[in-house]
Amino acid sequence: MRVLGIETSCDETAASVVDADGVRSDVVWTQEVHRPYLGVVPELACRAHAERVSAAARAALEQAGLERPDAVAATVGPGLIGALLVGASFGKALALGWGVPFVGVNHLEGHLLSPLLERPAPRLPLLALVVSGGHTTLYLARDVGDYQTLCATVDDAAGEAYDKVARLLGLPYPGGPHLDRLAAEGDPQAVALPRPRPKSGHDLSFSGLKTAVRQRLEQQPDLRPADVAASFQAAVVDVLADRVLWAAQTTGVHTLAVSGGVAANSALRARLSALPGVQTFLPDRARCTDNGAMIANAGRLRLLRGQVDGPATAVRAGWPL
Ligand code: KG4
Ligand code: ZN
Repeated sequence: MRVLGIETSCDETAASVVDADGVRSDVVWTQEVHRPYLGVVPELACRAHAERVSAAARAALEQAGLERPDAVAATVGPGLIGALLVGASFGKALALGWGVPFVGVNHLEGHLLSPLLERPAPRLPLLALVVSGGHTTLYLARDVGDYQTLCATVDDAAGEAYDKVARLLGLPYPGGPHLDRLAAEGDPQAVALPRPRPKSGHDLSFSGLKTAVRQRLEQQPDLRPADVAASFQAAVVDVLADRVLWAAQTTGVHTLAVSGGVAANSALRARLSALPGVQTFLPDRARCTDNGAMIANAGRLRLLRGQVDGPATAVRAGWPL
């Protein structure tokens, strides 16, 4: 089954065709219009998606050598409501016009299942760490559609913390990739930073770490930015690695699939790949940040299990897995 996937939940206009052999095409257009604002402006995102989504889908079909897919999948949440409406409405209209099934995909499930696009692919059950700009959650994925949250951030997402610390260091938005590169030139032990934990439970917290970086920079403005970046990154990686080891011990599941924009981070990839007793699967770096292939993949797996959504399927700004 060849599935066209459409992703427009934030600032990437993306379309891709995925079939049983994997990714046939992958078109990702990152919107440049937000650059001056140091964040995504919802109304501008919505308009830019409306201008380009059709061309992105056409390019994905052309690259895959297809005139018509066997089904269409589109992100229907969580995300910016106007941006979601554009991709979801377009996807439903295509499916209706072609007379093929439509399936609405949860963006988080798209990330979570994206390591399954790699070869060799991991097998379920697995521990799924989704680390993106909006979410940081560790799930026990027993099957497609059967996810149990083991722990999650109680405040900032990891990507959000990267972006905020990058901003403190004067790096461009989104700061994660810039901070990653800068950290490679720094000493991860140069700046003492906490490994914050919420008072109770097993959850994660990143807001205190970001505040600690700001305070260190206020106290010692002459700190080397590369050392601050490396020390911050080491703290994030320590906290995430610790939770994965705890989850493996608690659940007895030792397969880990990491996804979301922060899964592109060099230090995180290195550490999670070397965890004792854990077999780690990481998507290709380019497929960590938002893309259409992860939506086509999740939609395809849902369709294979019999899910089909009607034209009345609503978009949802908030939608936990
Ligand atoms: O998954 P994603 O594209 O969008 C959301 O669904 O949120 O993730 C974007 C986030 C941003 O916060 C970005 O700074 C971060 O992923 N990111 C990184 C890296 N590449 C992207 N963070 C750290 N290191 C990277 N190499
Ligand atoms: Zn995402």
